[in-house]
Formats: sequence, C-alpha cells, structure tokens
Amino acid sequence: MDHQSVLHPAGPMAHAIGGLWWWMLGVAAVVYVIVLAAFAYASLRGGRPVLGPEGVAVPPEGAHRTMRRTVSGGILVTLLVLFAFLFYDFGVGRALAEHPAKALTIKVIGHQWWWEIVYNDPDPSRILHTANEIHIPVGVPVQLELSSVDVIHSFWVPNLNGKRDLVPGYTTSTWVQADTAGVYRGQCAEFCGYQHAKMALYVVAQPRQRFEAWLAAQLVATPPPTDSVALAGQKVFLAGPCSNCHTIAGTSAHGTVGPDLSHLGSRLSLGAGTIPNTIGNLAGWIVDPQSIKPGVDMPSNQLEARDLQAIIRYLESLQ
Ligand code: CUA
Repeated sequence: MDHQSVLHPAGPMAHAIGGLWWWMLGVAAVVYVIVLAAFAYASLRGGRPVLGPEGVAVPPEGAHRTMRRTVSGGILVTLLVLFAFLFYDFGVGRALAEHPAKALTIKVIGHQWWWEIVYNDPDPSRILHTANEIHIPVGVPVQLELSSVDVIHSFWVPNLNGKRDLVPGYTTSTWVQADTAGVYRGQCAEFCGYQHAKMALYVVAQPRQRFEAWLAAQLVATPPPTDSVALAGQKVFLAGPCSNCHTIAGTSAHGTVGPDLSHLGSRLSLGAGTIPNTIGNLAGWIVDPQSIKPGVDMPSNQLEARDLQAIIRYLESLQ
C-alpha cells in the first residue's frame, strides 16, 4: 500500500526517516553477509589440531595474536558503525524537531476511536470542525497540535512523518508537509482500547487553490435540503438521538460526543477509516455500527426503512 508506507515518502520529514531506514537496512545487510562469509571461511578452513608434547591440542604459532587483532578490529568496526548511526539518528531527530515557519495550524484531538480535527483561525467564523480527514495544501509545512480527551493515542501518517503521541491534558505538536498531491492514510499507533485498530485517518494533500476551495466550502453550512426526501431525513436526524451526539452546522444539532457531520457526504470514510463512505455502508453503519466496530460509542438504530433512506439521502447531501 503506497499510500500508507514509510518507503514511499511524500514530504521532507518522511524522506529524512526513509533515508535513515535505507542506510540501516543496507549496512545491516552488508554486516550480515560479512558475518556469514567469515563463519563459512572458519568452518571450511578447519584443519587438524596440532598436538603438543602431552598429546593436547595447542594453537598454532601466533594464533592468539591473530585472534586478538581480529576480535579487536571487529569491536572497533562495530563501534564505528553504531556511532555513525547514533549521530545520523540524532541529525534526523533534530531535523524532525525543528518547526519551520508554519503556514497553517490544525488541532488534532484523539478520541476512543476517532480523530477530531479543528482548523484554527484568529477569526472565529473561519474555525472549522471536522473529523478523521485532514486536508492540507501541497508543499506547505502544516503544524499539528495534538491532544487527547481520554487515553494516549499516537498520530502516524508514515508517508509524511514519524509518530507523535497524543497525551491527555498535554499538548504536543508535530508537523507534516506533503510535496506530492495525494491521499495518505494514517492510523493510531498507540494501543488505546478495543478498536485501536479501527482508528485511522486520511490526509488529503491538494494543490493550494483546491485546498482553499475545499476550506471555503467546509466553512459554509449546507443550506436546508430542497429535496423532500432529504428534508424528511433532516427531521428524523434532528428529532431522533443522532443530534444528541453529533453536530451539523446550520441546524439545531450541536452534540459533541461523536464526529461533526456538517459535511459528512464529502468524506472518504466512515467510522474513522473503518469503511468507505458509500450509501450502502452508511446504511449499515447507522443501523448496526456495533457489528462493524464493536465497542464504538454509537448505538444501533432501529429505523423504519423509509426513515433510514431519508436520513441517508440527507447525510449524503451534506457535501
Ligand atoms: Cu487511538 Cu490507538
């Protein structure tokens, strides 16, 4: 999977980590071959033991000196290689820790088991709340401020940067930069409970203009539906339990337990990267999320077929 791989770096930090990884693999491979060759040489060379006056095997002339030299040389080379990597690693760590002038700051808040995403802005009307999907402009360093509301999670999008923990009550930060447009998958890299494995997210790197267009569209509340089915769906959503936990901008739904659904229709996945966002999956998710992601906070919902269809039409219309 190229879109979730340390070996396909798409930004400067991932390139630095990838470079270190390839050097370590290369040197380890060379060391492995040398050790095997030395072992084969020693086994094949063998030779008969030389017997001393009492019939006891004695080492040949000068063998001790050769052995001492070989072992000392081996230790020296090992130390040199390890120190070289130590300094290389420090260098990479330093480069990763340096935060360049940031163009954009995004808050990432860990929940069991989803990602709350907040685009900060000095102007409150331009603060965007979304979930499980981070859009960024290509070629720009983006600062991520990480925190958690429950347990320790870890943010990891391998194509863009290394891991960084999200710790309750403490803000950490990291940054990502994608030099190639694309969709990069990330996932929680710290065991955080039952559905840790289904706590994924997507980073969508877009050319600047497309990113700006996306942001502008996300900042606008979707107008009330004109389609009668979607309108009926909105009523079901607002009257039922959905609105207790979810927010949809421009409506009376202000719940904060679950992800903000203001533009759910435009998202790639449901359940934090658990399933693709399709009509069929959305229906399955609403009716029985527990069978898709057991333990998730969202309860099952027994809806009349007509109400279910309406609510799906409504949610998919939230582009
Ligand atoms: Cu969150 Cu593992």
